[in-house]
Amino acid sequence: MICSDITLPEAVSKNFEAIAQGKTIEQLEQQVLENHNCAYQALDSDEWLNFTLMLQQVWQQNDHAIVRGKPDQEGNTAVLLGLALNSRFKPYRGNKVLKHFRMSPWTTELSQTLKEGHFHTDLCTAQTPPKVTLIQCRVADPSPGKGILRVARLEAILIELKRIGADATLDFLLKEECELVDERAHGSYQGVMANHDTIRYHPETLRAAYRRKGMPLHELERHLATIHEVALMTSTPIDLQSGDALLVSNTRALHYRSACSVRYLEFPRKFEAREIYVLHLLDSPAWPI
Ligand SMILES: [Fe+2]
Repeated sequence: MICSDITLPEAVSKNFEAIAQGKTIEQLEQQVLENHNCAYQALDSDEWLNFTLMLQQVWQQNDHAIVRGKPDQEGNTAVLLGLALNSRFKPYRGNKVLKHFRMSPWTTELSQTLKEGHFHTDLCTAQTPPKVTLIQCRVADPSPGKGILRVARLEAILIELKRIGADATLDFLLKEECELVDERAHGSYQGVMANHDTIRYHPETLRAAYRRKGMPLHELERHLATIHEVALMTSTPIDLQSGDALLVSNTRALHYRSACSVRYLEFPRKFEAREIYVLHLLDSPAWPI
């Protein structure tokens, strides 16, 4: 496997800066929603093409890529990086593409809680889940070793489940009719969760469906624990610093975040915490060649 890390070339980074100047993030979001096919004149350069070719190579090998770059506090880089995959952006609230999350000790929301997350795919109950998730670190966790990401590739998970003889869990993923329920979005999906090319998966949505039907959880929990263990074994820690971004396939890999921390400046409301931008792309990347 080739290394997943790419450094954003200086020239591209400068170009990003120039594009972002004099433009609000709302204007940029509007622009990329209208112009998803990367006919973005301002990025047209040899450096940009070389960068997208490099990204393509890494992506095709790893189903994810980490782009290290310089800090960007406004999220422009996340949006402009998304253009490299030449896909439609997923809009929300009509004309937004970028979500901003700040971790908090005072919430149980999965996207902002300090508690360790699950290996999952995003929006797994949607009729057609987005193909790519892009996460950019705005502010790193105040404690080293906290808020660490991981990516477990579907292919690696299936190979490892086979290797350890976890046939029941393989059947659970590849053959069983399951229900996934998103209690917040009131969405649900019914069907098989994975084949050898694509997966939709979130432990909480499976638990919600079991609870709704009044089914006992113990067998489900065994499968979830096996998948978690195998996903941990087949992935490595990814530590994003301010400005760094993770682009990950939302159909060919699961992603995960470890527990986060906060540093109180004034208890209970004033604290430093990890902040991220998240956006989704609707199509599989369309690469230059
Ligand atoms: Fe996620």
